Amino acid sequence: MKKILIIGIGAGDPDYLTMQAVKALNAADVFFVMDKGPAKDKLVALRKEICARFIENPDYRIVEATSPERRRDGVEYKAAVDELNRDKQRVFQGLIEHELADGQCGAFLVWGDPALYDSTIRILDAILGEGRLAFEFEVIPGISSVQALAAKHRVPLNFIGKPVSITTGRRLVENGFPRDADSAVVMLDAQNAYTQLDGEELDIYWGAYVGTPDEILVAGKLDDVKDEIVRVRGEAREANGWIMDTYLLRKRGVKD
Ligand SMILES: C[S@@+](CC[C@H](N)C(=O)[O-])C[C@H]1O[C@@H](n2cnc3c(N)ncnc32)[C@H](O)[C@@H]1O
Repeated sequence: MKKILIIGIGAGDPDYLTMQAVKALNAADVFFVMDKGPAKDKLVALRKEICARFIENPDYRIVEATSPERRRDGVEYKAAVDELNRDKQRVFQGLIEHELADGQCGAFLVWGDPALYDSTIRILDAILGEGRLAFEFEVIPGISSVQALAAKHRVPLNFIGKPVSITTGRRLVENGFPRDADSAVVMLDAQNAYTQLDGEELDIYWGAYVGTPDEILVAGKLDDVKDEIVRVRGEAREANGWIMDTYLLRKRGVKD
């Protein structure tokens, strides 16, 4: 039987790797590294650095594959994501079928935590559901960008006994601040969605490239710092060619 490990590698700093992740790295024969083009070179390099740093027996193989991209030509978002996941499923299936021998262990190194805005688990379930390939798989949790962001700002995500919502920039624009929460973490925001929240008394704790040498943090009352974040974010995106940022919004005046 083939075995697949989905290993959460943390959201930027190699020191975020857990002991369980290091053990899992050392159990794998083949690593599948998805390449998303030149803008993401640093992310591929970090995965290779992690293998070199934490794996004791250098007798492992890295297989690189080109990750399909989501269509951005006006097709509806959910449909584009479904299509992307079908394309990824084909690529992952090919890797498991052709690059892994029976009895071997393969690993996908997933940024942050595999349970948060990542489709690897979903895709492996879909492959198994088709019934053409047989393998077992295990998930090793990682430190997500959400945890890394909160730690860097030294702020709890929730008020005492209150819920925290995790959402996307797209949903924040469509629906405003989540109605049933006093705190919201926003990920996957390509459009500075926080600038569109009118009439909300909020604090923002923003971070880009958290845990990496390029890390930038800004915090304050949303109205006071939002222009600074737009400027800093734009400059960083321009300098690096891409950006990954996350932020926590908390209602002001909530008693803790
Ligand atoms: C596809 S999701 C993957 C999330 C990942 N599984 C996790 O646990 O953090 C990508 C989004 O995660 C956030 N993100 C990931 N790494 C980050 C980092 N180092 N700093 C800030 N945001 C990050 C950004 O919101 C980015 O748009």
